Amino acid sequence: MDDAASAAGPPSLTHRLILGDCLDILPTLAAGSVDVVVTSPPYNLGIAYRSYDDRLAEEAYLDWLCRVAEQIRRVMAPDASFFLNIAGSSNAPWLPFELIVRLRRLFVLQNHITWIKSIAIDRGAAGVDSVGHFKPVGGQRFLHHNHEHIFHLTLSGQVKLDRLAIGVPFKDKSNIARRGHAQDLRCRGNTWFIPYETVKSRAQKFHHPSTFPVALPRWCIRLHGKAQASVLDPFMGTGTTILAARLEGASGIGIELDPSYLAVARERLGAEPG
Ligand SMILES: C[S@@+](CC[C@H](N)C(=O)[O-])C[C@H]1O[C@@H](n2cnc3c(N)ncnc32)[C@H](O)[C@@H]1O
Repeated sequence: MDDAASAAGPPSLTHRLILGDCLDILPTLAAGSVDVVVTSPPYNLGIAYRSYDDRLAEEAYLDWLCRVAEQIRRVMAPDASFFLNIAGSSNAPWLPFELIVRLRRLFVLQNHITWIKSIAIDRGAAGVDSVGHFKPVGGQRFLHHNHEHIFHLTLSGQVKLDRLAIGVPFKDKSNIARRGHAQDLRCRGNTWFIPYETVKSRAQKFHHPSTFPVALPRWCIRLHGKAQASVLDPFMGTGTTILAARLEGASGIGIELDPSYLAVARERLGAEPG
């Protein structure tokens, strides 16, 4: 294990970037010590990661992720939130659902958020607004995949959230007084439109095949609503979650198998090379 501690945030907050297999590292973390987990594991779709082979037999993949989830459960505080971002594909459409059903013995599914990466909105005579990027799917059987899942898992199903921390203004302002709201802010609901930034080269995506935008973990951390939370990403990749933690005034622990991706995370966080 190569543990590169970084104090790139405010002095009381630490951001630890750890090189290793999360199944080896998670058991070394204290039980009940984490407030928010935001992670996107490999999806078993044959993505070309540098170290990890993303092509396991389906049963082996599901068993493996369940073992990781058991360790995540162990390190979660009683009122912690676990935001699990995952998607299927046209060839493996059941996979995210198979996984979430298996996780039922460990967690309560408190919210199911749909992360919308791209959307076309019909505006009548004004035409159609098409916003956001997605990877096109060829052929004539399948639609492009414009969304992914974010499963919000908790230990009790009773975790209070700060819904207005990621709230949106009321469309109809008369609702504010009529429904007794203190401010022009309402819960945004469980569809989150977070587009990828437009990039022109792989370098702008840190030479990593499957990052998520930093707004995604930022919204999760904000929604959980705990000041100076302790955030964990056991499949850290390029460090997006830990960067989000720092931007949200939270501590972070990121675990990543591949030294190159860990090096990118260090660079993004302004951490000393390990
Ligand atoms: C979907 S990517 C995460 C990307 C990340 N959200 C980001 O924005 O950069 C999954 C990552 O998990 C890493 N990984 C795979 N198996 C792992 C393991 N056993 N322990 C730690 N990391 C692992 C892969 O190398 C890959 O970088």
